[in-house]
Amino acid sequence: MTSKAPCPQGESLQVFKGTFIHATHTSPMETLTPLILGVNRTGKIVFIENVDKEEELSQAWHFQKKNIRVLREREEFFIPGLVDTHIHASQYPNMGTCLDLPLLEWLVRYTFPVESKFKDPKFTEDVYTKLVKRTLRNGTTTACYFATIHTDSTLKLCSIIDNLGQRAFVGKVCMDLNDLFPEYKEKLCESVVETKRFVAELTGREYPLVKPIVTPRFVPSCSSELMQQLGSYASSEGLHIQSHISESRAEVELVKSLFPECKNYTDVYDRHSLLNDKTIMAHGVYLSNDELKVFQKKGAAISHCPNSNISLGSGLFDVRNALHHQVKIGLGTDVSGGYSPSVLNAMRAAIDVTKILGFQSSNYERLTYQEIFRLATLGGSQALGLDNVTGNFEVGKDFDAILVNTNVPNSPFDVFTDDTQEDIFQKFLNLGDDRNMVEVYVAGKKVVPFPNA
Ligand code: GUN
Ligand code: FE
Repeated sequence: MTSKAPCPQGESLQVFKGTFIHATHTSPMETLTPLILGVNRTGKIVFIENVDKEEELSQAWHFQKKNIRVLREREEFFIPGLVDTHIHASQYPNMGTCLDLPLLEWLVRYTFPVESKFKDPKFTEDVYTKLVKRTLRNGTTTACYFATIHTDSTLKLCSIIDNLGQRAFVGKVCMDLNDLFPEYKEKLCESVVETKRFVAELTGREYPLVKPIVTPRFVPSCSSELMQQLGSYASSEGLHIQSHISESRAEVELVKSLFPECKNYTDVYDRHSLLNDKTIMAHGVYLSNDELKVFQKKGAAISHCPNSNISLGSGLFDVRNALHHQVKIGLGTDVSGGYSPSVLNAMRAAIDVTKILGFQSSNYERLTYQEIFRLATLGGSQALGLDNVTGNFEVGKDFDAILVNTNVPNSPFDVFTDDTQEDIFQKFLNLGDDRNMVEVYVAGKKVVPFPNA
């Protein structure tokens, strides 16, 4: 238990008392109870102490006990905000549909057509507002978004995210090759110039929580020149990078045929300066151990998107093997390849995948549900290079949190008197939904319920 040096008199604090469940680097799940936690005006956690320190703390930090928010025992608890490390905001209209084709066919038939619609500002505003509200209600406090090739529409997404108070990386999608759907692509120079304009405009707006990420879509839709220019631009500006890698067998074969001189898919990105400790690549289902070693060496991360990998029939990603290689891993919904916007759903799909891998080999070391909870919170924050800011409850980090209430009137599950705190938490992970997420905080600010709802 720790605290910062007390603040000057009169600073307004939010103080919460009750149960906090989170992950740390040494423990995939810790239940901290009963605790008292203080958040300052800038949204940072300034103390986390046992409740027996309440008197001392109230004097040192000048808060009144009547202003402490006391959680109801057992039925209410805080968890860290969930981190969605890979989601296509622009595919939200298709979410829950179009899941009958494999990746490459799915892109051409359903996905490029819907993304093309974002040149229309009205469509953009409606879809992106609904999407960001939906993810926030589902407890996503940090998201790493793909938008579309349209710069102004992507900037609109940024302003909606800022307005609703989510933490995010946002990428203007770059793609200069698209033979099968030629209406949806850019010219090489336009893609680079527009990426620079996007970054400059977004940076100039000084949104505190919304940052740009350089976003070459994936190898088959980017020329070598485009990847090279984006790679050197990202390196020179110290920007984050996101893309897709080794998602389906057909895609891996296609990349092999496009870049026969490269050792493998990872090598293509590496040769174009797109693989470093600010890179997050989605999927990675078919990465070899040699490629995982390169990821580890470069400090690049993988977004595990289990719902999407199953829904598009892409394959089963072996998280355990990637963790053995010390690769940073977070979870992604990959809407709309994945049909759910909820990171809780991604956790459940990740559990199913680890169990299926367990059926296939008897000595497989399956992930525990606690480890998957860590992937959804601290793991995601590490994968995005934000673990000094968010991911769990530590003094000095921002208070990104979900207040879970398991006793809401229309809760999707029931709690019984014999249930332990851990049983209740597991019921929430396996059965809970946005009805149980009664309040969501990002950097200390309550963003759910929505202010004007
Ligand atoms: N690979 C290239 N683009 C996409 C996309 O939009 N979704 C998924 N799942 N994979 C991709
Ligand atoms: Fe994706």
